[in-house]
Amino acid sequence: MKILAIETSCDETAAAVVEGVDEDLKILSNVVVSQVDIFAAYGGVIPEVAARSHLEAMMPVLDKTMEGISWNEIDAIAVTHTPGLLGSLLIGTLTARQLAILHNKPLYAIHHLKSHIYANWLESNNIAFPLLALVISGGHTQIIYMKGHNQFEIVGTTRDDAVGECFDKVAKILGLPYPGGPSIAKVASKNNKYKLPHPRVEGLDFSFSGLKTAVLRAVQKELGLPISHPSHDLKNYLNKQQVADFAASFQRTAIEILAEKMEQALTKFPEAKSIVVSGGVSANEELRKVFKEKFGDKVYFPEPKFAGDNAAMVGAAAYYEILAGAKSVDPCYLDIMPRSKIN
Ligand code: KG4
Ligand code: ZN
Repeated sequence: MKILAIETSCDETAAAVVEGVDEDLKILSNVVVSQVDIFAAYGGVIPEVAARSHLEAMMPVLDKTMEGISWNEIDAIAVTHTPGLLGSLLIGTLTARQLAILHNKPLYAIHHLKSHIYANWLESNNIAFPLLALVISGGHTQIIYMKGHNQFEIVGTTRDDAVGECFDKVAKILGLPYPGGPSIAKVASKNNKYKLPHPRVEGLDFSFSGLKTAVLRAVQKELGLPISHPSHDLKNYLNKQQVADFAASFQRTAIEILAEKMEQALTKFPEAKSIVVSGGVSANEELRKVFKEKFGDKVYFPEPKFAGDNAAMVGAAAYYEILAGAKSVDPCYLDIMPRSKIN
């Protein structure tokens, strides 16, 4: 079965053709056009600009994705319809609806977090259940318990900022370009000079807004400036070494917080046979190292290029939904939902 998948939930215009045979997934094409260069200039995503860029990029991305593949070969179309930026989701969803009508193909509506989780099945098809999925992206930080394919129970979530959002905000304080995750990882030194607090949050929930504020206060203290000093101006006083050391201490603390929660999650769900990490932040090499040291063979990561937003993962999620007997949706009526929980 060949699936054309489309992803436009945030600032990546992506399409892919994924072929599923039994439990195996093969990527026949995968195209991602990222808008990060546009948003680096603004220091973050501007939803209206993102939607317009999707509109411009969509057709060229589709043409490239379908190069050498005929429409007769495509068995289904899958698209991210929730959650994400309203205008961005609309462009991908409307495109998929039109293609499904035009080419008379069944259409599958996919939840973005499912796609992130299933990016791991692009790598490996023998991940043992039950498992704990840790989704760490720019919009989400969640621990999801999965008894089997397509069974999702949220057991931990962030009460405020997502961890990726925290990387982006801390990068801004340090004067590093958007997106903050890769910028912080790139400049981080080997030192752990600044001690930053771990939030005390009950159960398996997270909180990351306090960590961002802790970095802000530590920077002000280091520079001998008052807490009233505006955060956007601090970068003008920091030298390269200080930026590298703050980046390192922040990155280390964020990773420790995630790893501690996963240890707690394993104590609560001792039957979990695997830990499946996904989302943009899962590209972080330091995090991969720490998790592999702590959790050994239990832990799975997607290939780094499939950690962030892409459409191959949407195809993977769709394939496993179809295998589980999911119904296609009516292409005349499929709606988008900017917010929704995985289910
Ligand atoms: O999954 P994703 O591409 O989009 C959402 O669904 O949100 O995640 C984007 C997030 C951004 O916050 C970005 O800073 C973060 O992933 N990110 C990283 C790294 N690469 C991307 N965070 C830490 N280390 C990285 N190497
Ligand atoms: Zn994402």
